[in-house]
Amino acid sequence: MSSTQNPLREGLTHVATVPPFVLVIFGAGGDLTRRKLIPAIYNLMLDGLLPQEMAIVGFSRGDDTDETFRKMAHDAIEEFSRRPLEEDVWNTLQPMLHFVAADFDDAEAYKKLGTLLTKLDREAGTGGNRLFYCATPPSQYPVIAERLGAAGLNHARRDDSFVRLVVEKPFGHDTESAVALNRELHDVFEEGQIYRLDHYLGKETVQNILVFRFGNGIFEPVWNRQYIDHVQITVAESIGVGTRGGYYDHAGAARDMLQNHLMQLLALVAMEPPVAFSADAVRDEKVKVLRAIHPFTTREAVAESVRGQYEAGLVDGKDVPGYLDEVDVAADSRTETFVAARFLVDNWRWAGVPFYLRTGKRLAKRVSEIAIQFQRVPHRFFQSLDMPEIEPNVLTLRIQPDEGISLKFGAKVPGPTIRIQGVNMDFFYGSTFADQSPEAYERLVLDCLHGDSTLFTRHDEVETAWGLVSSLLNAWARETSPIPVYPAGSAGPEEAMALLEREGRRWRRL
Ligand code: BG6
Repeated sequence: MSSTQNPLREGLTHVATVPPFVLVIFGAGGDLTRRKLIPAIYNLMLDGLLPQEMAIVGFSRGDDTDETFRKMAHDAIEEFSRRPLEEDVWNTLQPMLHFVAADFDDAEAYKKLGTLLTKLDREAGTGGNRLFYCATPPSQYPVIAERLGAAGLNHARRDDSFVRLVVEKPFGHDTESAVALNRELHDVFEEGQIYRLDHYLGKETVQNILVFRFGNGIFEPVWNRQYIDHVQITVAESIGVGTRGGYYDHAGAARDMLQNHLMQLLALVAMEPPVAFSADAVRDEKVKVLRAIHPFTTREAVAESVRGQYEAGLVDGKDVPGYLDEVDVAADSRTETFVAARFLVDNWRWAGVPFYLRTGKRLAKRVSEIAIQFQRVPHRFFQSLDMPEIEPNVLTLRIQPDEGISLKFGAKVPGPTIRIQGVNMDFFYGSTFADQSPEAYERLVLDCLHGDSTLFTRHDEVETAWGLVSSLLNAWARETSPIPVYPAGSAGPEEAMALLEREGRRWRRL
């Protein structure tokens, strides 16, 4: 049966068909594969978005086999899929799963992989299309790319087939390592074959920033320094580092979140309208605005940023340990679990409008949002009525949870006198759209298969964002004073409040 006849596709005729493919997952035994990739593939299949001619090959060290890989996939779907496992879909998927047990640097194994891929092309009709997915620690990316190249698996055999490589964040540890990683990948793959995945770009609400800005006539004209006072971007988490202390202690909030997710949100909010909804047009604008961000001198980096580390505290009514007591964290660690910074975008649209970014673990609650605060009413029309200053309008794009958008404006409180109160005009995804939003990974895996890299970060974008974050990291590395602390369950260190208060502004309440 051809993919266009797939019965599961009924009702989805507006979605382009994915060509036949083999997805090779390096690091198939890991958490990312279980929690995200396998459930994403399953859900795409459930929606009839994948062709019948497909195969998934797990590649990992260890002694897994096709059978144990299939069992793992089955359990992963049961545990992590957003929709329950349906036997008929599973029965279709199961025989498509294969496994190669080998070390990532084992050159012979890549030859074996090549043979398996050719066999799958022949038997499953996968058409020579390969998506290589590195679900491994980033330290393994260069060796995987190099070995794929050495085995001749880095380019398509035919003009009408594709070979693509997906790598996950973090892309490097600082500017130099990011540039080096890009160089190593470019030694083997063309930029157009490389998909750098930042899962925030796969979130519906993040994509909606583009729709909101460029699919509506009334917002773009006020989206500038004439009307906007400042922008706050918050990605707060209530979880701690959990079992990831080993990784996190070498990363910290700036590398783990600011360099990628938050800078991406900033770019989408601040960029100029792209000429088209296409990969290079969108990414050109993102790079342009990132390059327009005022680079910090060492002194500015210290003055314009705050970091912090959580201490023991209370989250959701439960006692939780401090960062230094987490597993695999050095007892004298200076790694930041919170970062806030003030960025200025030096261009005509944004000159003088601060962008305040903050992110942290073990904060009071989980909330990701972008709040655009407009300027106060210029004419104090109600001054004579002796009432408190009118609150400014705030447009809030809620990324998660409670996905939606709200606009706060002043309304007259009913009664014989003029009293003004801030009220909200609210849009909630959950109640407006009946369909459950797909997971970020579903959208992003699908885009890789379609060859659409609009929602993936280009090498120059990554390097520019690193330039900004590295200047903070370098400035902090010279500091010897104790790192500010905050109790778990709070809104972050007090120093972060001061960052805004000194300018007469306030963080939004978490
Ligand atoms: C990841 C970070 O990229 O994003 C994690 O490594 C963080 O530390 C996670 O918890 C947050 O993602 P989400 O989708 O839960 O907001």
